[in-house]
Amino acid sequence: MKINQSVALVTGSNRGIGKAIVESLVANGAKKVYAAARTWDGKKPMNDRVIHVELDVTDQKQIDALVGKAGDVNLLVNNAGVVDFVDIINASEEQFQRNFSVNLFGMWKMAKAFAPIIEKNTGGAMVNILSILSFASMPVFSVYNASKAAAWSMCLSLRATLKDKGIRVLNVFPGPVDTDMISAVDIAKTSPKDVANSILAGLESEKEDVFPDPMSESVYDAWKKDHKQIEKQFASM
Ligand SMILES: NC(=O)c1ccc[n+]([C@@H]2O[C@H](COP(=O)([O-])OP(=O)(O)OC[C@H]3O[C@@H](n4cnc5c(N)ncnc54)[C@H](OP(=O)(O)O)[C@@H]3O)[C@@H](O)[C@H]2O)c1
Repeated sequence: MKINQSVALVTGSNRGIGKAIVESLVANGAKKVYAAARTWDGKKPMNDRVIHVELDVTDQKQIDALVGKAGDVNLLVNNAGVVDFVDIINASEEQFQRNFSVNLFGMWKMAKAFAPIIEKNTGGAMVNILSILSFASMPVFSVYNASKAAAWSMCLSLRATLKDKGIRVLNVFPGPVDTDMISAVDIAKTSPKDVANSILAGLESEKEDVFPDPMSESVYDAWKKDHKQIEKQFASM
């Protein structure tokens, strides 16, 4: 997909990776970007091609309202996400529901709402921000791991189902990225800007999957060779 022909909608775009994706889309000539967030700080959009829109991805009424406003979208970026730091035995049902309602059901609701729009606009793409934790579980991310693994599986169904509608599904599996989400975790991290640029490069190429940082690339290579070794390595982290 050519970025300069895109009309994009990015969820969770007020900070972190979502914000960097909006900036990168603008820098690479996107025609228009609907920057969606639960709340905005009242500041003007960074560019006159950016439109701030209100969206909680768990709120079907807000999604329906956005469908009415953003009928020209041909690129959906499902980025919004949440995490809880808790092991699987101590996780509460509320934590499970929170992670699944945003990371899985929010993505699904947005895909359902915008696939017909992208199809009507003669096709385009859907980018889904998953995680390297879709492949293997670190115990402290228990409910998040489960939500991202489920989301990965769903995204494979989306790819198969949307192919004939002219919608390409690009799945993205970041490793640690320097955002609020893991600010408390002491580990080498990639900048959101580098991650955003890798995603856009992936969109411009024929790729189906993007590993946007050095850790995710090396973990994926090792996982392909011996997934049990990665399972054990992550389990001990
Ligand atoms: N950081 C990492 O290391 C890492 C690694 C792999 C994958 N990811 C994934 O990358 C994506 C972006 O994460 P990030 O690192 O940029 O995290 P972040 O800085 O915590 O930002 C999360 C974004 O998601 C939004 N969000 C949360 N719940 C929402 C909801 N119900 N409706 C709409 N927006 C909602 C947040 O909005 P509010 O400001 O309103 O809370 C915020 O804009 C997530 O899907 C995350 O799982 C991150």
